[in-house]
Order: sequence, then structure tokens, then C-alpha cells
Amino acid sequence: MKNILLTGGAGFIGSHVVRRFVKQYPSYQIINLDALTYAGNLENLSDIDQAPNYFFEKINILDTASLQSVFRKYAITDIIHLAAESHVDRSILSPMDFIYTNIVGTVNLLEAARNAWKGNWEDHLFYHISTDEVYGTLGDTGLFTEDTAYSPNSPYSASKASSDHLVRAYGETYGLHYIISNCSNNYGPNQFPEKLIPLFIHNILNEKKLPLYGKGENTRDWLYVLDHAIAIDMLFHSGKIKQTFNIGGFNEWKNADLVSLLCRLMDKKLNRPEGSAEKLIEFVKDRPGHDLRYAIDATKINKDLGWEPSVTFEEGLSETIDWYLQNEAWLKNVTSGEYQKYYEQQYQNRH
Ligand code: NAD
Ligand code: DAU
Repeated sequence: MKNILLTGGAGFIGSHVVRRFVKQYPSYQIINLDALTYAGNLENLSDIDQAPNYFFEKINILDTASLQSVFRKYAITDIIHLAAESHVDRSILSPMDFIYTNIVGTVNLLEAARNAWKGNWEDHLFYHISTDEVYGTLGDTGLFTEDTAYSPNSPYSASKASSDHLVRAYGETYGLHYIISNCSNNYGPNQFPEKLIPLFIHNILNEKKLPLYGKGENTRDWLYVLDHAIAIDMLFHSGKIKQTFNIGGFNEWKNADLVSLLCRLMDKKLNRPEGSAEKLIEFVKDRPGHDLRYAIDATKINKDLGWEPSVTFEEGLSETIDWYLQNEAWLKNVTSGEYQKYYEQQYQNRH
């Protein structure tokens, strides 16, 4: 019997992980704890929210008293921690939100676990979901391995690096059984349209400019979100304790090339003349501290657990576009109100 506290389950990756665990493991209780910030959306889970093994608690991980009461209420046995402020551009606009949620919030969870589990570490797991951005940037060659030194360059990645260190420190100091995984860029259904792929899909749909930072030469390693959810499932059940695992797509794309492919696919799917979307591309002022290249060496998780991506990029991207085209109401809901203010603040004066 496992009572798993999954934080950030109303967000992009979290909602796919919640769905997978609720469906695959009916004997587990899945407790989704989420503050429902701008990025959290319960609509993401409307297909499983009536399942008997699913529970939702609207709680901020900065609220220590409520965290402790959730541990008591559900007798939490394990944690999968995804709640975070996750967008690099927002961390440049307002770093403090990232320091509070990503660092202080993670320590609050660690403390709640330490108080509740009282040294019975063998029976419990704290699984911390992190990012490849903690490693900083690569030049034209090389890959991030689990031994690459941390060198974060944005307030977001520095806050995630701090949280990784703190989780590890609880392992060394108190004996906490933890796993940390550092994953590359995810894409897929339900991603908030502030990140490159859903933002550009949204803008193409609405025939708005596509603001490509710098020269569009930055490279990312893209992974379909369901493949990340599978990796999390495998690591949760079979990953070696007190270790770190890199997860990546073996799928590097320069931003400009990715956006060209996206434009071609969107023109086809929208029955617009070839080249329509590409005309919307506008090269704008670069992101400060913009990491040039990320690429993951995922050999360890492949050797230890046999995990590898199951979806090709062309399939995944096509399915992702179809999802956004079929869920225009979702897109409309999340881009009303607050979103417009963010968009103006982020993209004004970038030309
Ligand atoms: P997201 O922004 O879509 O979702 C974050 C969720 O956390 C939201 O539901 C939000 O309401 C919740 N949340 C935020 N602050 C909270 C708080 N103080 N208390 C409780 N809940 C709070 O993020 P995502 O892209 O799904 O990322 C999830 C995790 O995976 C993050 O830890 C992120 O660092 C990591 N990650 C993301 C990617 C990626 O490409 N998106 C890649 C690697 C790792
Ligand atoms: O690598 C994992 C990380 O991937 C996660 O930890 C983060 O949570 C996630 O946001 C993502 O970070 P990136 O900064 O790589 O993702 P983003 O979608 O913001 O940007 C991808 C690339 O596209 C990056 O090089 C910046 C560029 N970009 C982004 C936006 C939003 C643009 O050129 N224009 C844009 O408007």
C-alpha cells in the first residue's frame, strides 16, 4: 500500500504523471498537492479526477502547517516532487518567486517528510524531479552526464540546483532515501503557452509574430512528456536510492530548425498556403544568460532500467499540434486575463 504525495500534479508534467500512476496502480492512493498558480489547471485531470484512488489538496508548499496535516491525513509513504516555478523568462522578471517555491518550498517538504517518517527511511522515498539546466550550458560538442559539475546560469536553474543540493544533503545528513532525475526539455499536450512550442503553436493559430530569441541558434534536447512520465514511473519503482539519473530525448534541435518544422506542420494542418507561418518569425533581443546548448547522455537510465524514448519527435510534435488544435477552449482559458499582462511585459521592447 502506497500513499504517494505528488506535488505540482495540476501542471504540465505533473498531470501526465498523476494520470499514469492513477491508472497503472489502482492500489496506490495518489494525493495531488498543488497551489494552482497560473500554471496549475485542474482541467488537465478532468478525465481521472473521479477515480477512487485520486485525491486533490489545494495547498502551497510554502504553507508548513498544511503540509504537515496532509502527511497525517493520508499517512504519506512516498513523495514525487514536481511543484516548481518552471519558466526561465519569468525567473528573470521575478526571481524571488523561484527562490521561495523552488528552494524554501522543497525544504518545507523535506522537513515535513523528516518529521513524519521519523528515521524509518527504508520504508519511504523522496523523488525529486529536476532539470538538465542545473548543468549550465554546453558548447558545440559534449553531453551532460550525471557527473557534470553544476553551473546554473538563470535564477530558475540556480533555484533548481539549490533544491537538488538540499535533497542530497538530507540524504547524507539524515539518511533520507531520495532519487533525483534531471530531464531535458519536455513537450506535449497541456504545456502552458509560455514555453517555446505551445507559445508558437498559439501564435501561429492566431497569426501573431513568433519571437525567436537571438539568432535562433540555441539548441535543446526535446523529449515527449509521456516518455518522461514513463521514466519517472520506472525510477520511482526501480531506481537506485541516493542516486541521480539524467533523462533526455537523444533529440537535439536548433531553435530555428525546430520552428521551421513546426511552421511547415502547422501550415499543412491548418490548410494554409506553404510559408504562411514562417513569415511570422521575428528575430528578437536575446534572453539574458541564454544557455547555448543542452544535450543529455541518458546512458545510465538506459543501462540500469532499459528506459529509452518511445515516441519519435515527428510523431510527438504532430500529436502535440493536434492536441492544441482539438483543445482550443483549453488554450483560450489559459491565455485570458493574467496571461496578457505577462505577454506584454515579456515581449515588449524586444524588437
Ligand atoms: P508547470 O509550471 O507546468 O507546473 C508547475 C506546477 O506546480 C503547477 O501546477 C503549479 O500550480 C504548481 N506550483 C507552483 N508553485 C507551487 C507552490 N508554491 N506550491 C504548490 N504548487 C505549486 O511545470 P512543469 O513544466 O510541469 O515542470 C514540473 C517539474 O519538472 C518542475 O519541477 C520543473 O523544474 C521540472 N522540469 C520541467 C521540464 C520541462 O521541460 N517543462 C524539464 C525538466 C524538469
Ligand atoms: O531543459 C529543461 C528545461 O526546459 C526545464 O527545466 C524548464 O522548466 C523548461 O521551461 C525548459 O527551459 P527552456 O528555457 O529551454 O525552455 P523554453 O521553452 O522557455 O525555451 C526553449 C528555447 O526557445 C530556448 O532556447 C529559448 C527559446 N525561446 C523561448 C521562448 C519562450 C525563444 O526563442 N522564444 C520564446 O519566445
